[in-house]
Amino acid sequence: MSTSLSEHHVVVTRPVPGPAQSWLDDRANVQVLEEGVAADRSRLAEAISEADGALVLVTERIDEEVLAAAKRLKVVANMAVGYDNIDVAAATRAGVVVTNTPDVLTETSADLTLALLLATARRVVEGDRFLRERRWERWAPLLLAGQDVYGRTLGIAGLGRIGRAVARRAVLGFGMKLIYWGRSDVPEIERELGAERVGRDELFERSDFLSLHLALNDETRHFVSSRELGLMREDSILINTARGPIVDEAALVSALEAGQIWGAGLDVFEEEPSVTEALLPMKNVVLLPHIGSASVATRERMAKLAAENIVAVLSGQSPLNPVNPEVLLT
Ligand code: DGY
Repeated sequence: MSTSLSEHHVVVTRPVPGPAQSWLDDRANVQVLEEGVAADRSRLAEAISEADGALVLVTERIDEEVLAAAKRLKVVANMAVGYDNIDVAAATRAGVVVTNTPDVLTETSADLTLALLLATARRVVEGDRFLRERRWERWAPLLLAGQDVYGRTLGIAGLGRIGRAVARRAVLGFGMKLIYWGRSDVPEIERELGAERVGRDELFERSDFLSLHLALNDETRHFVSSRELGLMREDSILINTARGPIVDEAALVSALEAGQIWGAGLDVFEEEPSVTEALLPMKNVVLLPHIGSASVATRERMAKLAAENIVAVLSGQSPLNPVNPEVLLT
């Protein structure tokens, strides 16, 4: 039997895929905002001001101002594992539970990371473009020759769920060697994959491929900047499927222009949806529009999980994925 929360008003900031929408409709009084409303700060704040729950996407900035305008808000469910778009400290002060969608997107995001790594190393996008432009005249020994992946060293910054899923694919599927940097030891991955924990500078110095899997916060903003790029080797490749501001994009452009690193695969950017203009003509970068978790099935699972988190909080139960569980204790 479904929980009825019809007196509860839930705002969904943009249409979400799959059965989540009707599942939520059966349980609460749902308002899906029209396209464009969520992008307008004052209209977003106004819509959330009378809501008990809000299902939001990474494009929505839920800050102190939006939270202050909310009179009865109890839960903000982010349809993403990362939640840097939400001021969690302000939400906690306001007694609002924030939830995210971990686990359901882990494998899908890891797949995309490997796709980006392989595409950058083996010049897949460049090759496709070359052929479509009818520039292929004959086979040649060094035509679009790239970098090997097998047997090379993958460095991972942040060996959390997605970092581990990437590591498994790289080591077990591609015979890569694994080094990692993070706040703590991950002995089970050291045992399972022969991983070696290294210092921060060593990570940059030794990685043939460096893949970022850190959450964005004040400590990780510009984790990769000119100094770190200067430590990397000329044949190394940077992959970022985490959050754009973890990399200083201007410093990355300079490093690529100077040939300090060989290439980069980026799914995320500092000021999405803007992309630093200088990256666009570069042949040695592969650029994707933040699609790490974008398989139909995974995006549907993320929406459903976000909806379940809202219903749990509004019906007085513990949500599956609180990021500020301390609110539940008060
Ligand atoms: C996440 O879940 O944090 C992704 O970046 C959005 O798909």
